[in-house]
Amino acid sequence: MTWIWVLIGLIVLAALLYWQLVIAEGSYLGPRVVTLLYDWAASAYERIKQFNPEDEQWYLGLPLAHALDRIPAPFVLDVGTGTGRLPRALLFQPRFHGHVVGLDLSRRMLAHAAHYTRPYADRVTLIWQDARFLPFPDNTFDAVTSLEMLEFTPDPRGVLAEMVRVLRPGGILLVTNRVGREATLLPGRAFSRDRFYALLEELPLENIQVQLWQVDYDLVWARKTGRPMGGGTRPLAEVLRCPECGRVGLTLQERAYRCEECGQEYPVAPDGVVEMARKRAGRWSARPQKPARPEAKEV
Ligand SMILES: C[S@@+](CC[C@H](N)C(=O)[O-])C[C@H]1O[C@@H](n2cnc3c(N)ncnc32)[C@H](O)[C@@H]1O
Repeated sequence: MTWIWVLIGLIVLAALLYWQLVIAEGSYLGPRVVTLLYDWAASAYERIKQFNPEDEQWYLGLPLAHALDRIPAPFVLDVGTGTGRLPRALLFQPRFHGHVVGLDLSRRMLAHAAHYTRPYADRVTLIWQDARFLPFPDNTFDAVTSLEMLEFTPDPRGVLAEMVRVLRPGGILLVTNRVGREATLLPGRAFSRDRFYALLEELPLENIQVQLWQVDYDLVWARKTGRPMGGGTRPLAEVLRCPECGRVGLTLQERAYRCEECGQEYPVAPDGVVEMARKRAGRWSARPQKPARPEAKEV
């Protein structure tokens, strides 16, 4: 009879591992595990996803470019950019003349993003950093997007709030909400349609629209409340916020961004990725940022 219990134990263990590593993609085990899994899968990611270029244009690139039409050179942040799916869809649009910043915590996904976005290299910046601590001051971007990422972070609500914080009043938020059968296996990470809508309503957002998109994901559009102000692309050095001390505005040196306040340097790797989340003494440096310096310091 013992072998039956061993068998049951193995089945339960396999089911648990499948849930944690395949469905939740390590989300309950922390960002390090999620990142490790994406680092491993990076070279196979595009093959697995098989993005259809026409669908990407129709559902992502075209409507986003259209929504940003009034700004001559929009400044866009894509959080959890992976292999650069959203930057590519947007930069392909002839009517889009802006700049896209793609941020991700998997260095290998970013290496692939750098490769795939090479044709637009002068209009894309890739940053290695945790989405929970966006290294930018408030009200910076004309659009903030995030596709298929929220449910893999330990704190989807906090990440949503961060994304809205760096969005300009009047700016566009485009995020996905995980739906479908597997979403029920992601408590605290994925939300029902009503709950997700309610979460967005708690933030300074208006005109929230849910669009059915894929079997597993809705696309959700919204605008940040407040009078639209400014708008347009800005030099990265002006808007980078030092994760160490919170100073806004770093100095671009030959191969690194340097914080004149605390002396911290963030290398620009040969593939162009700005490396803000580095491992120091075996620990991720990505951590809650000190509060931003007073407004006067911001450029
Ligand atoms: C399913 S992929 C989506 C990538 C891309 N947005 C797309 O639609 O193809 C999820 C991405 O989120 C990134 N990610 C997960 N947790 C993150 C975090 N805390 N900060 C930044 N990126 C994160 C992963 O590294 C991965 O590249």
